[in-house]
Amino acid sequence: MAINAQEISALIKQQIENFQPNFDVTETGVVTYIGDGIARAHGLDNAMSGELLIFENGSYGMAQNLEANDIGIIILGDFTDIREGDSIRRTGKIMEVPVGDALIGRVVDPLGRPVDGLGAIETDKSRPVEAPAPGVMERQSVTEPMQTGWKAIDALVPIGRGQRELVIGDRQTGKTTIAIDAILNQKGQDMICIYVAIGQKESTVRTQVETLRQYGALDYTIVVTASASQPSPLLYLAPYAGVAMAEEFMYNGKHVLIVYDDLSKQAVAYRELSLLLRRPPGREAFPGDVFYLHSRLLERSAKVSDELGGGSITALPFIETQAGDISAYIATNVISITDGQIFLSDSLFNAGVRPAIDAGSSVSRVGGSAQIKAMKKVAGTLRIDLASYRELEAFTKFGSDLDAATQAKLNRGRRTVEVLKQPVHKPLPVEKQVVILYALTHGYLDSVPVDDIVRFEDELHDYFDAHHEELLETIRVTKDLPDEEVLDAAIAEFKNQSNFK
Ligand SMILES: Nc1ncnc2c1ncn2[C@@H]1O[C@H](COP(=O)(O)OP(=O)(O)OP(=O)(O)O)[C@@H](O)[C@H]1O
Ligand SMILES: [Mg+2]
Repeated sequence: MAINAQEISALIKQQIENFQPNFDVTETGVVTYIGDGIARAHGLDNAMSGELLIFENGSYGMAQNLEANDIGIIILGDFTDIREGDSIRRTGKIMEVPVGDALIGRVVDPLGRPVDGLGAIETDKSRPVEAPAPGVMERQSVTEPMQTGWKAIDALVPIGRGQRELVIGDRQTGKTTIAIDAILNQKGQDMICIYVAIGQKESTVRTQVETLRQYGALDYTIVVTASASQPSPLLYLAPYAGVAMAEEFMYNGKHVLIVYDDLSKQAVAYRELSLLLRRPPGREAFPGDVFYLHSRLLERSAKVSDELGGGSITALPFIETQAGDISAYIATNVISITDGQIFLSDSLFNAGVRPAIDAGSSVSRVGGSAQIKAMKKVAGTLRIDLASYRELEAFTKFGSDLDAATQAKLNRGRRTVEVLKQPVHKPLPVEKQVVILYALTHGYLDSVPVDDIVRFEDELHDYFDAHHEELLETIRVTKDLPDEEVLDAAIAEFKNQSNFK
């Protein structure tokens, strides 16, 4: 068979003309560098900041540094089998996580994938992990209380729905316990809770999940976890994933409590990936935008206006300090962003004052508007009394003969400290808190030996449960004190029939 040269060249020409490159440098790139949890890629000229990218091995990445020749990427998954020269694709989507009711009761990673072995999460809704915070006009001020069930918090540093209250303290001072019990106390309060565990041991997270399950709190809680063994990009992402899930509920008029345990570890993870991405280090080697890391997160907690449904996100961010130093870089940043802080003191904790809340250094800037009327009446001066007791106590260590007034103050102070102690996983409903604080501030405890206060309180609650449910009911419903004569009579009656005189 004769081959016609012209025919062949025509065919080749036609092939060349019709050649469709299936390789688009703006949509697909090449990995040029791969390091611990980060990569750089050439190409991808159109990639957006925060865009989700897919590596050849199926792992996801998130575009971070957009530079002239290449982009820096944080890898959100397994990176051991990604090689230089691998291809990487754009998705055109900003990083999103699944949201909605289907997540309630589940334990998920920062990408919203289940890690509790209970099967797939069926939801068709998702939200971007980075979203703008509600603006000034979309908010309203905090008015409803968010009861934590801790006497020392609800009385001294009350938290309102939509508030951001920092919990700060050294390691092992009871920080996590504060959050877990606050979640337990939301049972039946029409709240959804999200516990974001950042950089904790997997065994610790597991214990917390079990506690929540045991007390029936998992029915209204989502746990987002990026444990210590995960690559730093996931630790960095976890709080944003959590707040995205929270926003879905808030914008549907619901109330959410979100706990970030803890943001110190998130900041460290962010420092690690920033250094790997070769961003310039600043103070304590954190990158310059570490303030923005936390401010853009915490600003997303809000009480939104009635037009937007009136939902709220209450945030409890945690910071771990070293030797009680609240003036460290990250600590001062977060203090300045939040609406107050609860300072947990190592020395109080070790002295057996638990929860170890240091009343002098703790404050809630939303304050009274987040307390019910009854609580405001009984706890009004408690904080100042307690602080002055601490001063007096230190001062009177040197002298022995005290006048009666000072002696009385010291007596009351000691009993106040005792009443504010609370064991783990025993959140107290607000009406019971009011009763015991009423008894305290009206002097019913002054004659009870300090060592018997705990027993006194337990028996008082039991007595009210059995004989004065109507008084508890009144406080619960009217949110105000019942007729004080009736309340006084009930407490006196309890004291008479008991062996506390
Ligand atoms: N109110 C309390 N009464 C008695 N024990 C408590 C109380 N609060 C916490 N604890 C105990 O103190 C220990 C430390 O508590 P927790 O884990 O909450 O502290 P943490 O500050 O979160 O610690 P870490 O720094 O390790 O995260 C736990 O064993 C806990 O049971
Ligand atoms: Mg902890």
